[in-house]
Amino acid sequence: MNTHSDGPLIDSFGRTVSYVRLSVTDRCDFRCVYCMSEDMTFVPRAQVLTLEELGQIARAFAELQIKKIRITGGEPLVKNNVLKLFDEIGAMPGINELTLTTNGSQLTRMAADLKASGVSRINISLDTLKADKFKELTRTGDISKVLAGIDAAIKAKFEKIKINAVILKNRNHDEVTDLVNFAIERELDITFIEEMPLGKVSDRSREEAYYSSDRIKEDLAQSFELIETTESTGGPARYIKIPNTKTKVGFISPHSHNFCSTCNRVRVTAEGLLLLCLGQEHSVDLKRVIRANPGDIEKLKKTIRDAMSIKPEGHDFDITAKPIIFRHMNSTGG
Ligand code: GTP
Ligand code: 5AD
Ligand code: SF4
Repeated sequence: MNTHSDGPLIDSFGRTVSYVRLSVTDRCDFRCVYCMSEDMTFVPRAQVLTLEELGQIARAFAELQIKKIRITGGEPLVKNNVLKLFDEIGAMPGINELTLTTNGSQLTRMAADLKASGVSRINISLDTLKADKFKELTRTGDISKVLAGIDAAIKAKFEKIKINAVILKNRNHDEVTDLVNFAIERELDITFIEEMPLGKVSDRSREEAYYSSDRIKEDLAQSFELIETTESTGGPARYIKIPNTKTKVGFISPHSHNFCSTCNRVRVTAEGLLLLCLGQEHSVDLKRVIRANPGDIEKLKKTIRDAMSIKPEGHDFDITAKPIIFRHMNSTGG
């Protein structure tokens, strides 16, 4: 571990942390069945980090040699005036990459501004191409808005656009080929995600809906030639290529292929908890530090550096057991 006051963040397993995922709100205009329960209660607004606090946290990380920041939610684009934060982080010295994960519902009005603020890559969730299924999976979403949002993102010319699809057995597993064709036609990447057991979901057991990445690959192999690659973005996805297309197909497989040994990231929740692992409860309360020491960035940096000593070795997700993580994905940002 690196305890010096300069130099990169290194944890007790020797992993360098160079990437932060900042959740800017736990609120969302959708209620995806794998992410939220039907009757979600959101954090009271006073407990959510303000844009100024988020900016200060980003700055502290930048000074600790974090190179990449991904803005997540909830749905980040429903936060009031969130573009200000994108502008601030986009111009922040030391941050080489500013990225966004979104459900796409607000992109028709925001894609161009996001590009102008320096967002390079954007991930958009799309689990199905069918309007009725989309309504069923998101409970409240309107697919036409998201499809228009994807078009707006393409028009804005981000460096990379990636579709995220969480695949659930008997819900949307029959659409993996159609989703890949959708991506190929638009020259986008696509990642298939195994559902992770975060928080209780109300509609079914998680085990019943498990559809492994290997099964998805078998399904895709019926229609496409798949070429394995060793390519990595430093993230958990493993990629395959389809010849004569620009599309990479990724798989995030926390159950069937664990990737914790190369973990390079930490997260900050909308409430200002620094989470050292998505699948564990280890955390440090950054909001408390900021609110008790306004403007003291050195204090914040020291708190973050000290937190590296409790970053756990990995997650223990088990879809057959009761969830051990009680927070939902919307407070964590994935
Ligand atoms: P990059 O790594 O920046 O390319 O982004 P990503 O594709 O991982 O980010 P995105 O926000 O699109 O998340 C896609 C899925 O990956 C979500 O379901 C996340 O929860 C999951 N994910 C991201 N990081 C981790 C991780 O460290 N551990 C686990 N188990 N899942 C992760
Ligand atoms: N398991 C896996 N992925 C999830 N997401 C939300 N909840 C879960 C879950 N329980 C995905 C969203 C989005 C990304 C940030 O996380 O679909 O693409
Ligand atoms: Fe909203 Fe994303 Fe959760 Fe769906 S997965 S409810 S879009 S935060």
